[in-house]
Amino acid sequence: MSISFQAADRISDVAISDIVIMSEAARARRAEGHQVISLGIGEPDFHTPDHVNDAAIKAILEHDTQYPPIAGKPELRAAVAGLYDSATPDHVLVSSGSKYTIFNALMATLNPGDEVVVPAPFWTSYADMIRLCGAKVVIVPTQAADGFQVNIQTLRDAMTPKTKWLLINSPSNPSGAVMPAEKLSEIGEVLDDFPNCWLMSDEIYQHLTYGIAFASAWDVLAHHRDRMLITNGVSKAYAMTGWRIGFGIGPKALISAMLKVQAQGTSGTCTIAQAAAIAALTGPQDLLEDRRQSFQTRRDLVLGYLNAMDGIMTPKPEGAFYTFSSWQDLRGGTTPDGTVLATDRDFCQYILTTANVTIIPGTGFAADGHFRISYASSTDDLHQALSQMTEAVAAITRP
Ligand SMILES: Cc1ncc(COP(=O)(O)O)c(C=O)c1O
Repeated sequence: MSISFQAADRISDVAISDIVIMSEAARARRAEGHQVISLGIGEPDFHTPDHVNDAAIKAILEHDTQYPPIAGKPELRAAVAGLYDSATPDHVLVSSGSKYTIFNALMATLNPGDEVVVPAPFWTSYADMIRLCGAKVVIVPTQAADGFQVNIQTLRDAMTPKTKWLLINSPSNPSGAVMPAEKLSEIGEVLDDFPNCWLMSDEIYQHLTYGIAFASAWDVLAHHRDRMLITNGVSKAYAMTGWRIGFGIGPKALISAMLKVQAQGTSGTCTIAQAAAIAALTGPQDLLEDRRQSFQTRRDLVLGYLNAMDGIMTPKPEGAFYTFSSWQDLRGGTTPDGTVLATDRDFCQYILTTANVTIIPGTGFAADGHFRISYASSTDDLHQALSQMTEAVAAITRP
């Protein structure tokens, strides 16, 4: 007798992400012998700095390989606290990537029926993590014409007494929008009217802004620090995605609750990766500016190509390493082989099979009619991918 597998109800609403679907489609195409350039994944193409690698090797050689303190190494907690005004190490929890920090915070706080308000487009994982915790995602759409900045009245209308968290992300994945300090202040006024709502501010792209200053919710909304969690990490700024180090900075009561989740979820974070993160945060910082400039050059390069494509509209992103374009004017158009492009996935599949370039459908970020490009690739790859894409887009017959 065979026993059928039955997954838990809590994962029934969790779909396979568009990023995974497109990556699998690209893998299949490569297996057929095609040279596919991926502009899909949000990962810097730089290497982890040498002094960071050396710190990790030293940790291994010195046998720093036993279970870690669950909340993180004291030196790392102190280094992170030092970056945030008035924070002390017990305001900091070190986790296996800031993705886990976010998941941990939601797990530690959400009850069934709670609501989490998230401006869209947003990073795919937020919605699935919220649903996994049994809570409801409340989406607040933003418009390209507004530079993907949240409209405060629309935000206010979405909030209810059940809103447990307002989750914001600046610089944004996928739109690249950077929230100015004034917008954060307006958000603070909304929070004034919803005293049970906490603010989660995902600041993982903090070091990547172009022509606009980064404003942290920690500084602008200092008066709300008693109900705020900042999530950040070393993945994007120091090219350390694989080391899996992230951190949350918030009130001690929240950090203690998150500690309980972490104690049962992971028992703490890899000691060697923590040694590396300490070196990253306390070592030379000039590499941040070098890399920022390099990303800015690539953003301009990609924008140049996108702006020249008929039917594609791309607001100028001011941060992170993504462009988020509308292909709405081409929806319903026909490809040379007669296929009608109806959905974001159709468009991205067409670009994959015709231009051999992976891009990600906007639906994956709760913004239908768009696609995301990650420009964290070499300039040679960007030139090649974008010129192939230009030809493919020009070959679409408009509806
Ligand atoms: C907006 C955003 N937040 C958080 C993360 C998670 O980063 P990590 O878990 O590597 O710290 C990512 C990664 O893509 C991201 O794009």
